[in-house]
Amino acid sequence: MTRPATTGGAKPRETFSRRSVFVFAAIGSAVGLGNIWRFPFVAYDNGGGAFLLPYLVALLTAGLPLLFFDYAIGHRFRGSAPLSFRRMSRWAEPIGWIQVLVAFVIAVYYAVIIGWAASYAWFSIDERWGQTYEESAEFFSSTFLNAANGFGFDFVPSIAIVLVAVWVITLGVLLAGVQKGIGRTALIFVPLLVVLFAALVIRSLFLNGAMDGLNMFFTPDWSVLTQPAVWVAAYGQIFFSLSVGFGIMLTYSSYLKRKTNLTSSGLVVGFSNSAFEVLAGIGVFATLGFLVTTSAGAGWDDVSGGPGLAFIAFPALISQMPGGPVWGVVFFVCLILAGLTSLISIVEVVISSFQDKIGGSRTVATLAIGLPMAVISLVLMPTEQGLQNLDILDKFSNNLGIVGIALIALIAVMFVLRLAPQLRDHLNSVSSWPVGKFWIFCLAILTPIVLAYALVTTIIELVNEPYEGYDLPVIGVFGWGMLGAILVLSVLLSLLPWRGARHLDGPPELDDDPSDYANEYANRDGLAPRETAADSTRKKA
Ligand code: ALA
Repeated sequence: MTRPATTGGAKPRETFSRRSVFVFAAIGSAVGLGNIWRFPFVAYDNGGGAFLLPYLVALLTAGLPLLFFDYAIGHRFRGSAPLSFRRMSRWAEPIGWIQVLVAFVIAVYYAVIIGWAASYAWFSIDERWGQTYEESAEFFSSTFLNAANGFGFDFVPSIAIVLVAVWVITLGVLLAGVQKGIGRTALIFVPLLVVLFAALVIRSLFLNGAMDGLNMFFTPDWSVLTQPAVWVAAYGQIFFSLSVGFGIMLTYSSYLKRKTNLTSSGLVVGFSNSAFEVLAGIGVFATLGFLVTTSAGAGWDDVSGGPGLAFIAFPALISQMPGGPVWGVVFFVCLILAGLTSLISIVEVVISSFQDKIGGSRTVATLAIGLPMAVISLVLMPTEQGLQNLDILDKFSNNLGIVGIALIALIAVMFVLRLAPQLRDHLNSVSSWPVGKFWIFCLAILTPIVLAYALVTTIIELVNEPYEGYDLPVIGVFGWGMLGAILVLSVLLSLLPWRGARHLDGPPELDDDPSDYANEYANRDGLAPRETAADSTRKKA
């Protein structure tokens, strides 16, 4: 077979060398801070064991369908989020940019949490936070964060130094590329995380009070199943946790070879992520049972999810348990490993889109985009009011940003562009586990209804009461202002000319994408991609 000539210009798109590398990278992205500190408390607050039912329904009707949706778009249109949406239609490009900018915001604050975990891994050695829950709470907010209420931009150098290290590692991995950087890191970090976390959970089960903790976690309150808020919480948890709806899985699947079994990879990723989440719930509640049983000064009402769990409650119990420093290091290293593989995927969403848009090498795109991101993170996070900034950015980017853009993307793709049959055919042409009417029903009807309900209730809640009682100017800037800036910038960015990507209308044909020749040669002994009904219609036209 003679290698066809290309029209030149575009560089071959990078690819993962094997499907297993992609699966590890996707699991690394999905399993993150959301699994370890968010899931246990979302479950606890929403009916304990009974929450597992809405959670499972949300996984099957929204998590996996959206994961397949992201995979189908990235793989069929072979581009970053803005490029893939541009290839669907010129007016759809801002949708991709909103996803990119939401990822940008999340990366800015996500990085500093990994930095805190790194500091706390070090503090574990001498249990610097003290012995009791109160001492630990005081250490975290006053000594470590130097937290202030309202405006306060005094810099906290100790956090800034670690944050620099987090960004250096993240950008270093991304500079190395898709396979050598993202892929290899996931191949090392994900198994290491599973082994360390499993050891931690097994240890936690032997602590005094562990069974009380598990009873707290699993005792079902079936009456919650009639409350819409519980179902919304389950859907919200799945979105962030599975990394769907804000460009990550879409970007990673654009690095897959043409003939890759997409849906079975998605099933592995989705169920691994949920298994890790339930494991985290068991480990967290077993250890909290120990904390409450000991005289460390904490009751069940004191402990909650988020920073309070990882950086106040856990340090306090580390001080109480035998071998505390060792388990402290293990716990915080788990947070670092889980966080880094997720952060890498979030930043890659941004870098790949600018590389597609502006052109140039990965090195140039990583430095030109990654460095300003790191600087913004360094300006906003290691300050007296860093925790407030983080909390507001997190609330608005997740509960409004991700939910809102997922809803817009579904309406655009399913109803305006009417691409559902094309995406379904694409998935089925390469996958062993077919999708059909139920998949389309979930994406066109069920998930949009849940998302619209969640969006409207969150907007009403945030308009009626300032989030967490923070000052209005701070909420105005980091909450509503941030969302407004995302909307404006997404339109402005879509007006810039494309210099990196070549083919802008419709999914690229083989001769539009030089990397495909390499992939075709690599797959020569395997099945050639099957032509879908949509392909032949387009070719005839
Ligand atoms: N999916 C990632 C997490 O759970 C973003 O933290």
